[in-house]
Amino acid sequence: METEVKLTKLASCAGCGAKVGAGTLVHLLEGFRTHTDPRLIVGYDKSDDASVYVLDDKTALVQTTDFFPPIVDDPFLYGQIAAANALSDVYAMGGEPRLALNIMCIPDSMDKETVQEILRGGYDKAYEAGAIITGGHTIHGAEPIYGLAVSGFVHPDKVLTNSGAKPGDVLILTKPLGIGILTTALKAGIVPDVDEQQAADLEKRIFAQMATLNRAARDVMVRYPVHSCTDITGFALLGHSFEMAQGSGVTIHIETARVPYHKEAAACAEMGLIPAGAYRNRDYAEHGVLVRGDISRSMQDILYDPQTSGGLMMAVPKECASALLDELHEAVPAAARIGYVTEPEEAAIILE
Ligand code: CO
Ligand code: CO
Ligand code: CO
Repeated sequence: METEVKLTKLASCAGCGAKVGAGTLVHLLEGFRTHTDPRLIVGYDKSDDASVYVLDDKTALVQTTDFFPPIVDDPFLYGQIAAANALSDVYAMGGEPRLALNIMCIPDSMDKETVQEILRGGYDKAYEAGAIITGGHTIHGAEPIYGLAVSGFVHPDKVLTNSGAKPGDVLILTKPLGIGILTTALKAGIVPDVDEQQAADLEKRIFAQMATLNRAARDVMVRYPVHSCTDITGFALLGHSFEMAQGSGVTIHIETARVPYHKEAAACAEMGLIPAGAYRNRDYAEHGVLVRGDISRSMQDILYDPQTSGGLMMAVPKECASALLDELHEAVPAAARIGYVTEPEEAAIILE
């Protein structure tokens, strides 16, 4: 549906591109003191996707929240994408979402119908995930914001953190990159070499991708002895890889020729159409990245591009990688092997 005021026009930055940069966040949280609790097995000190608190031998509680300004103009779709993105952090821990709360900020100019469509989109996606939205909190503000606080469950022995990658692992990514670059270019109406119809098709494709739950990928993943997982969102493939490499004490090798991405994003990057978040991600991770070989600037820009509701990246023992990938392909056709893990080498990440 169309709204009178375009949703994305109300937002100064879109989707996960609005995320405070990883470098800034590290700085802001520096020296912040927290309490420990033996039941809190993933908490504040770890830059992981969600916190995990052990309830009993068989159950741990997974909690997370994500919210952002509109990334699309259709309010229902915006609600779906924001919810899929928030739910993803539970999937990234190997868990299953069960309960959720709405978090919302509405400008005075927003009508009731638009608010309801956003909420309906979020509810629809949470329901698809097997979770139920039980309430929430709404405030007034200059820009619209929507997202969820999500609670889910995971077996305490099956928690997947972003710091468990081991030398010898193969890296698998489940959604193609380029979302930040393409949503920015589409909003401005300047995707090179595409006519109106192709631009409309591209928009449809990437909107559908963002609204797709990481549930199917998670359901396949938990049937294998995967070592580590994170979802690729605002900090981009390289920002999240940097966290995984540092947390795991390993070097991550990205085989750039294997990385799935939307071709149109490369054309945009070549023209310098890069969202601000990509520069923040480069600032954060670049000192840990070694470029080995001839890798184009536009490919590097795609690797630093902030993703909204991106895919899962898993570190998988080599022995089971191809079986996992085969099974994954049935549910998630774009899934691909994108690299491998070694003992620490001269950089946290090596692009080859
Ligand atoms: Co995450
Ligand atoms: Co998150
Ligand atoms: Co995780």
